[in-house]
Amino acid sequence: MIMTKNLPILKFAAMAAMTACLVACGGSDGTDSADTGETTTAQSTAGAAQEQTTQASTQAGQRLFLQCRSCHKVKAEEGHNVGPNLAGVVGRQIASAEGYPYSEAFMEQDYVWDAERLDAFLENPRTYIPRNKMAFAGVRKPEDRAALIAYLAEQTAP
Ligand code: HEC
Repeated sequence: MIMTKNLPILKFAAMAAMTACLVACGGSDGTDSADTGETTTAQSTAGAAQEQTTQASTQAGQRLFLQCRSCHKVKAEEGHNVGPNLAGVVGRQIASAEGYPYSEAFMEQDYVWDAERLDAFLENPRTYIPRNKMAFAGVRKPEDRAALIAYLAEQTAP
């Protein structure tokens, strides 16, 4: 078979590449410190890029939140609406907004809303917590849910 025949050659090629790297990639102390400098620059660039990404998704989240706004407020002082106030909801115990009459289905749950749970809930509220009273079909796109959660985390941070 062709595969078996070629295998030793591939092995040899891999070994040759490794040897070449051992020679070329090994650096003196001098090169090492130069490397560290480059890594730091690369990291701060990555940090800035991530900040931009967070900002972008927060803006997208704000737009996406328009579909939630008829039922939810995000500022604590604005109180409840059809749905509970969502201030601080990321990291908040489920069904714990004071003075809001949650459904029995919600009261039976016992966990803290983290990004993962919010993602699953927002994808399909009715299957994630059957018989709950949030009349909302769900957010289909994963990137939209991520943007919404980023927005909620930023807007509702205590
Ligand atoms: C038609 C009104 C309505 C819309 C639209 C709606 N919600 Fe809700 N939401 C509710 C209600 C009502 C509850 C409480 C459910 C219960 O008690 O069964 C709830 C509960 C929640 C909870 C749980 C809060 C807690 O204190 O545990 C989160 C998080 C949430 N909604 C997020 C959203 C987001 C994000 C959107 C938009 C993508 C949205 N909701 C759209 C009515 C709505």
